[in-house]
Amino acid sequence: MASLNISNATKKYDDLEVIHGIDLEIQDGEFCVFVGPSGCGKSTLLRMISGLEEVTSGQIHIGERDVTTMHPADRGIAMVFQSYALYPHMTVRENMGFGLKMSKVPTNEIDKKVNEAAEILHLEEYLDRKPKTLSGGQRQRVAIGRSIVRGPEVFLFDEPLSNLDAELRVEMRVEISRLHRELGTTIIYVTHDQVEAMTLADKIVVLKDGLIQQVGTPLSLYDDPENVFVAGFIGSPTINFVRGDINGSKLSIPNLKTIKLEIDQSIASSHSELLIGLRPQHLTLVESGDLEVEFTEALGDISYVYLKTLNGERIVVESREEKLPSTGALVGIKAKASKALFFDPKTELRVK
Ligand SMILES: Nc1ncnc2c1ncn2[C@@H]1O[C@H](COP(=O)(O)OP(=O)(O)O)[C@@H](O)[C@H]1O
Ligand SMILES: [Mg+2]
Repeated sequence: MASLNISNATKKYDDLEVIHGIDLEIQDGEFCVFVGPSGCGKSTLLRMISGLEEVTSGQIHIGERDVTTMHPADRGIAMVFQSYALYPHMTVRENMGFGLKMSKVPTNEIDKKVNEAAEILHLEEYLDRKPKTLSGGQRQRVAIGRSIVRGPEVFLFDEPLSNLDAELRVEMRVEISRLHRELGTTIIYVTHDQVEAMTLADKIVVLKDGLIQQVGTPLSLYDDPENVFVAGFIGSPTINFVRGDINGSKLSIPNLKTIKLEIDQSIASSHSELLIGLRPQHLTLVESGDLEVEFTEALGDISYVYLKTLNGERIVVESREEKLPSTGALVGIKAKASKALFFDPKTELRVK
């Protein structure tokens, strides 16, 4: 087990810099998730940690060791990818032990490690099968098993569940969480799926365009985003943004007249306009208003109501009521004022 420290790390492909000076500290045993849209640099950063990609400048430490220029095999890490190429002609046992066999580990030791890993991954009864007789989730567990047997100090996962169907993804999420609890190993996990990030992580690192936007626990990013990007990326359905005008000390939202929010004098005197973030979870429907119901989604215990303002802005409200308004009806909304988030429309930074 080990902590990990990244200091001012950059990556250039020829003249194109794609990672711009990343500083990050990951604690021993922590489950850290890199999340961000496609192309933001998640895989590149992970591959820099693994040694599969050279670091252009900066340093990477695993525990006390400077691994910046170290060969991947010497770093004490193991990586699990989205495409888990297993050897089709080998059994599960052989697939899992293959890396150790190549490293000339004695057979009885390989057996012991493979059996231990199979027990952790609930793969004991499949050890003598070939990969083609396994389900997608079982194959992915074999790929993870291949890494576990090597006893890495840090596990790196790059979108390991993207190829699996939705139900299996949820199941594997639980498995990976359990695996982390049982092994206690430091994990760095890359995903573009914020729900996956929220459910797995001790610590989330939100990336955009090769830069860290914010680092924090899932709930701190949800409650306390530092900018418009993080507020919009974390949370499902996506947070609603509306424009607010400041006149004197009063904040009014032209398109949502039923919502009354207080702002501090200091904000009022330094801004004439704000971008207001209202999460669907913090809004409730009221009877009279000028918002048109476009459609509703009933999921059982909760529903989402999609509304349109007079000038065409979309607003989503989460509802726990059994009776939903009908499409085309006019309704109003109220907001939990303490949960409203204010942003500067120009800098897109949070205003507190
Ligand atoms: N080998 C490469 N050569 C040039 N550009 C690359 C290479 N690999 C990745 N990139 C670029 O680096 C950026 C980050 O890519 P990547 O780390 O794969 O993003 P993510 O994993 O977040 O989707 C992208 O703009 C991508 O086009
Ligand atoms: Mg990637």
